Amino acid sequence: MTACIVGWSHGKFGKLDGETSESLIVKAAGEAIAHAGIEPKDIDVIYVGNMNGGFVRQEFHSSLPLQTHPDLRFKPSTRVENACATGSAAIHMGLNTLAAGKARFVLVVGVEKMTELNSAQAGEVLIKASYVAEEANIEAGFAGIFGKITSAYFQRYGDKSDALARIAVKAHKNGAKNPYAHFQKEFAYEFCRTPSDKNPFVAGPLKRTDCSPVTDGAAAVVLTDVSTALGLKQAIAFRAAEHVNDFLPMSKRDIVKFEGPQLAWKKALASARLDLLDLSFVESHDCFTSAELIEYEAMGLTAPGEGERAIHEGWVERDGKLPVNVSGGLKAKGHPVGATGVSMHVMSAMQLSGTAPGGLQLPKTRIGGVFNMGGAAVANYVSILEPLR
Ligand code: COA
Repeated sequence: MTACIVGWSHGKFGKLDGETSESLIVKAAGEAIAHAGIEPKDIDVIYVGNMNGGFVRQEFHSSLPLQTHPDLRFKPSTRVENACATGSAAIHMGLNTLAAGKARFVLVVGVEKMTELNSAQAGEVLIKASYVAEEANIEAGFAGIFGKITSAYFQRYGDKSDALARIAVKAHKNGAKNPYAHFQKEFAYEFCRTPSDKNPFVAGPLKRTDCSPVTDGAAAVVLTDVSTALGLKQAIAFRAAEHVNDFLPMSKRDIVKFEGPQLAWKKALASARLDLLDLSFVESHDCFTSAELIEYEAMGLTAPGEGERAIHEGWVERDGKLPVNVSGGLKAKGHPVGATGVSMHVMSAMQLSGTAPGGLQLPKTRIGGVFNMGGAAVANYVSILEPLR
């Protein structure tokens, strides 16, 4: 263990009219610093996770956290981008900075303001996270990429629409308990399973209820080394943090295998000296329900092609043997791209410190896993977290 999360903040996710990425950053940064019980002057280095790509006109984000407090002026700050894994990428940059001895306290803010565009326009931005030379003409934006992956999975293993609908129902049941979530209401199985005016097909076999929404939001963490963390009021340690990139073109990979996520999980569990079922929960990257299904296989919960067992047999429910996405996941909590990875770490830190709000808190937690993915299984980050004491 070399680093810890010692402060965090999480804003409400949703369509946040009247907010800007600037206002979201400033609020998240200020709250995380206060939560760590340190002063703004104590921050040595800042990373801002923001994908942008045209969601907002303001592209240059690195100095916006400095507006939180005059004492942040002149601190080195850098914007980090790695598609939908941007938030985790920013956190990993913070971990590297601490490991290099270049900082005592690192502030990481993840932010995205997506809803200034409509869904079709947002899809045009998101498709830039595909291999544009071959994949950008797929219809329906990034949903089209996962529509293609889902069709290929169904072709190989059979139609798994029942499992996808059950994953959506689980996400919304969990999200209904999360005051930070974009959607805080339950969805019935029949609604998620059956195409309708309110739940049309979006891409291939994916319906609206299989997709994460277009969302605004921000979250932030403060990182420090273990010995400093011991003197602070809360500390969640990184037992492992692994990052694996795969080829970008889907044509160079077996797209239903998620080999990059698989390797990231394997390396993280080996480095933490743990088995998957030692984890109390996992926050996993369910940008689409089929992504979560394939991730069950990539993390080693089931054999390839058998991911549906994990949902049908209740293993990944709140009270199952490995709860997955008790926060509601990207599906219900929302997926403000640059904020998502940071949000996953914050949700896990809350669970592990016993401070998740109300009905969201799991009764007993020891160790948590986070899997955040950029592109279609391209940039893959796994963190394994546990309380320092
Ligand atoms: N899940 C469930 N309900 C959703 C939803 C989603 N993902 N997105 C929107 N809705 C609901 C809205 O709340 C609204 O409900 P209401 O009529 O009760 O108010 C209704 O559906 C229509 O919303 P709208 O925004 O007009 O829907 P849309 O058809 O334009 O967009 C998607 C829906 C799924 C196409 C859009 O959310 C999308 O593109 N998601 C994928 C984003 C993405 O690719 N992210 C990156 C992943 S790597």
